[in-house]
Amino acid sequence: MPKLILAPSILSADFTRLGEGLAACESANADWIHIDVMDGRFVPNISMGPFIVEACKRATKLPLDVHLMIEKPERHIEAFAKAGASHIIVHIEACPHIHRALQHIQSLGCKAGVALNPGTPVGAIEAVLGDADQILVMSVNPGYSGQKFIPSTVAKVKEVRKKLDALKSSARIEVDGGIDVETLPKMKKAGADVFVAATAVFKHPKGTKAGIQSLQAKLRST
Ligand code: DX5
Ligand code: ZN
Repeated sequence: MPKLILAPSILSADFTRLGEGLAACESANADWIHIDVMDGRFVPNISMGPFIVEACKRATKLPLDVHLMIEKPERHIEAFAKAGASHIIVHIEACPHIHRALQHIQSLGCKAGVALNPGTPVGAIEAVLGDADQILVMSVNPGYSGQKFIPSTVAKVKEVRKKLDALKSSARIEVDGGIDVETLPKMKKAGADVFVAATAVFKHPKGTKAGIQSLQAKLRST
């Protein structure tokens, strides 16, 4: 069983104190940092670009998991790799030439991920299940943190796990959106092994470290 990964999403961090937020993640033993890139087109919101990835790279040693919620992500892959991304995820809905995009990411020395929205069936990524290093199953419609978890996505994770097992693939299954102490165990049971959380980490009433620790406890428990 591969190590279960907790990846705090900085979308809910205090950007006036981003370095402190990253330091808190690192000292609480978070595994990766998830960075949500939004263009106001593929999703309604606009967030951050390579500049912030580069700043995070200087502020933390943790791997940077960059989630591109943008149209034509191919145009920006190189900039994010150069900025220090270790994982780059593109959306299947935004990428008609998905093999080319994944190969491009891998050729730059990064792990390549493909994401699917809650409304997109698993069949849409079937052709690249054997090529991607990680499959990101969105459990909310992307665009904002703090949204309500969509329960039907649990079955989707199970379906992806089954297909990866049939291929004897070691690709990771990442879940993103509404992940908290209630929903994480369900996604873990379904076969996910990377858990992204923004609100449950950075808006935890007792602080970032407490947020991470409460999710880590769920990762450890059976
Ligand atoms: C949603 C982003 C998520 C978001 C998760 O569009 O892709 O990574 O930050 O936020 P929470 O954990 O608050 O649902
Ligand atoms: Zn994300």
